[in-house]
Amino acid sequence: MPTGPGRPQSPPASHSSPRPSPPTACRRPRVWTVARRPGKIGLVSEPRTITDPADPRLADYTGLTDVELRRRREPAEGLFIAEGEKVVRRALAAGYRMRSMLLTPKWLDVMSDVIEAAEAPVHVVEPGLAEAVTGYHVHRGALASMERKPLPEAAELLADARRVAVLEGLVDHTNLGAIFRSAAALGMDAVLLSPDCADPLYRRAVKVSMGAVFAVPYARLDPWPAALDTVRAAGFQLLALTPAESAADLAEVAPHRMPKAALMLGAEGDGLTRRALDVADRWVRIPMAHGVDSLNVGAAAAVAFYAVSATP
Ligand SMILES: C[S@@+](CC[C@H](N)C(=O)[O-])C[C@H]1O[C@@H](n2cnc3c(N)ncnc32)[C@H](O)[C@@H]1O
Repeated sequence: MPTGPGRPQSPPASHSSPRPSPPTACRRPRVWTVARRPGKIGLVSEPRTITDPADPRLADYTGLTDVELRRRREPAEGLFIAEGEKVVRRALAAGYRMRSMLLTPKWLDVMSDVIEAAEAPVHVVEPGLAEAVTGYHVHRGALASMERKPLPEAAELLADARRVAVLEGLVDHTNLGAIFRSAAALGMDAVLLSPDCADPLYRRAVKVSMGAVFAVPYARLDPWPAALDTVRAAGFQLLALTPAESAADLAEVAPHRMPKAALMLGAEGDGLTRRALDVADRWVRIPMAHGVDSLNVGAAAAVAFYAVSATP
């Protein structure tokens, strides 16, 4: 591997003296080098310090707080942003290709193995410049711009699945991320999204899910709600989760006994639309106490996922 002044150095062989601090600046001009590592020959980039917020190499990271802009830009440009060490590592482990990484100097050491393996540019910026570019104080000073993969068809995911979540109109990235996290933790096989659901790879959803959006496969169901027929045709019972009094108690419905169950969840506010409720095989309710009329959709999803995954 190259050992220029811009690359974090290995600890001394004796390990008796303290590990040297990571470099805070990378002064060599940007060069691509060929690295030879056991079992691997490829192009790698050394970290390069950038001091101009208008540098075009930082384009993927501009205006991260402008939700509307990013919602349009990221899918159109085929990218998404992974934020924080764990999330970046999980995205890579899930096979997403890195376009570039942006680090503040103190993260060079923590991310040294990722940098070494990276086949994409690694940009080093001071915290103030990171804030000027992204629009917020980047607490977890490691961001990566990742390349999206093509989404699978719903039918493809349903072929091997037994438990799926079907989300309608979920536009809140926090709720979406929380649902993916529960879906992963509680063993759901896939998440299917109505066309108007938010993007699971939007930064906030990725962050709240702690990278679970990379672990649970998802697809869009389009046209909506007609495409729910695809789910039924694959052998699934469509269970509409609703707080309506007329719905059957979740415990009585016992979804864990069903060979294949699809749990439909609606958005905060309006819940599942009448059209979606009409397509469902059954309406299912989590009983409420103390006069509470409904659960947050993320909480309802976690309860339902647990109920469907319980061993009979
Ligand atoms: C905040 S609720 C929406 C409330 C809305 N007023 C309604 O009647 O559906 C958001 C979603 O969470 C799920 N949910 C919330 N509380 C529930 C409960 N007690 N039983 C079943 N599902 C529930 C439903 O899927 C619902 O669409």
